[in-house]
Amino acid sequence: MRAELTGRPCRRLRGLMQIVILNGVNLNMLGKRDPAVYGSTTLSQLETLIYGWASDVGVTARCWQTNSEGTYIDMIHEAFTGGVDGLIVNPGAWTHYSYAIRDALELFPGPLVEVHLSNPEEREDWRRVSVIADLAAERVLGHGPEGYREALTFLAGSS
Ligand code: DQA
Repeated sequence: MRAELTGRPCRRLRGLMQIVILNGVNLNMLGKRDPAVYGSTTLSQLETLIYGWASDVGVTARCWQTNSEGTYIDMIHEAFTGGVDGLIVNPGAWTHYSYAIRDALELFPGPLVEVHLSNPEEREDWRRVSVIADLAAERVLGHGPEGYREALTFLAGSS
């Protein structure tokens, strides 16, 4: 199955750093899902913010989201084969147990930033484990949508 592209491309100019943002399971429900934990920003609003922030820091961004673990892995493979320079990943609950996603991320040669809207380290015990944490050049936890801006700024400065 091919990965689905959601949202609109920010800029596809050659020469700019290309960053892909991979949002995982249940993140399509942002805005409806426990706003006290995840805030009221919808996924579509978040993607609009991300494209604006990407433009501000001079990188291209593409946002993808899926609820299928296999598709998420296909998206990582596509980033690998497509010459993407950096990844921002929020795999949702897969963060805490998916070694398949971890294995796929290990293939990716560029810098990777792990972002979570909430801070999983201050929640239930099972959320304190991240099976991808040691692959991340940077982790941004609990900063809400702003965390994606921090991740873009980090990646833009890493080129
Ligand atoms: C999350 C945190 C995860 O524990 C949870 O399962 C999510 C969202 C976050 O962004 O805060 O789905 O990744």
